Amino acid sequence: MTTTDTGSSPAVFAEPTGTPLSLLLLGQAADPRSERGVECPGDLPAPSDPDLVARALAAKQALGDRVFILGHHYQRDEVVQFADVTGDSFKLARDAANRPDAEYIVFCGVHFMAESADILTADGQQVLLPDLAAGCSMADMATAEQVEQAWDVLEELGIAERVVPVSYMNSSADIKAFTGKHGGTICTSSNAERALTWAFEQGEQVLFLPDQHLGRNTAVRQLGLSLDDCVLYNPFKPMGGLTADQLRNAKMILWRGHCSVHGRFTKECVDEVRERIPGVNVLVHPECRYEVVESADYVGSTEYIIKTLDAAEPGSKWAVGTELNLVRRVANAHSDKEIVFLDKSVCYCSTMNRIDLPHLVWTLESLVAGKPVNRITVAPDTAALAQAALEQMLALP
Ligand code: 13P
Ligand code: SF4
Repeated sequence: MTTTDTGSSPAVFAEPTGTPLSLLLLGQAADPRSERGVECPGDLPAPSDPDLVARALAAKQALGDRVFILGHHYQRDEVVQFADVTGDSFKLARDAANRPDAEYIVFCGVHFMAESADILTADGQQVLLPDLAAGCSMADMATAEQVEQAWDVLEELGIAERVVPVSYMNSSADIKAFTGKHGGTICTSSNAERALTWAFEQGEQVLFLPDQHLGRNTAVRQLGLSLDDCVLYNPFKPMGGLTADQLRNAKMILWRGHCSVHGRFTKECVDEVRERIPGVNVLVHPECRYEVVESADYVGSTEYIIKTLDAAEPGSKWAVGTELNLVRRVANAHSDKEIVFLDKSVCYCSTMNRIDLPHLVWTLESLVAGKPVNRITVAPDTAALAQAALEQMLALP
């Protein structure tokens, strides 16, 4: 977005020139092929509206059991207070699947989570995402076209048959469908080890999409593979930037995707906090880089992080490497423990934060009025294949 300074007159807004990767302006257009598009028809309440809490409560009460509100741990407090359940991606997928009686599932999380909920719930249930701009930059790093091209490369090399795709929950429904089509499984940060163990029982190599860090951290730290067993597939280079031998010999073919929020944490952050707070325990999410995870004391999903901090001894000290809303909430809940954010600068997930109280009120009131907004639906063919991969995850031993 650009503004032009015209000297004495006020700055004039100039429309940004569209590029293939630019964000669409809120309310001005939609791009149904990606998670970037947004359209907010109707009246969004102003964030300053002092009645927002009362309006959310009234709408939720009016809907009763017809609505089930899920909140990911990275959501803002103002949203979390209205969630019927909170959880990590795995727990929320299971929770959504376990509420067949709820007519509406309002997903306070990001787009790929709402898609998964739509796939796992019955046809008559509607899944709504309060702001369609709540995407995930990591999920956007693997498009269906890129992944199909990569699979063609593996087929041409004659190795596709022995490769099992394992896709992180943080991926579009198309990628989940690709995974189901090729006999793979979805995983989350809380079951990645079980998913990889299962995959290596089915085949000899794994194509791990789209988070290189979760794939590498799990393969090396939990399955005992070496860093040399892993190669990084760059979708912007021919053959992923790898040689035929590298692709043939790798146990883990890691997609070159990452989380921009967790990518901020560095080994220097860990060293610095250990010096600043003697005796501190470092607790990080497995989306962090390998060297960060290696230098941490504890590693796990958002649910694991919360449980670890809940169970920690009073007086213990913790530096936590994950999204700031979660860290702040847990720190506020445990004033008897010293809980700090691992990075020195602010680190919210900007797309998660797009779900705010005005959008939640707008969504709930639209349901009360019988005019649901922002419904997330996955096309039946895609949903069927993606469901196979998701159910494989739910059935992991
Ligand atoms: P969890 O499954 O651990 O909640 O992680 C989801 C996510 O997007 C983390 O960035
Ligand atoms: Fe995606 Fe990272 Fe945000 Fe999680 S924290 S939703 S992986 S951008």
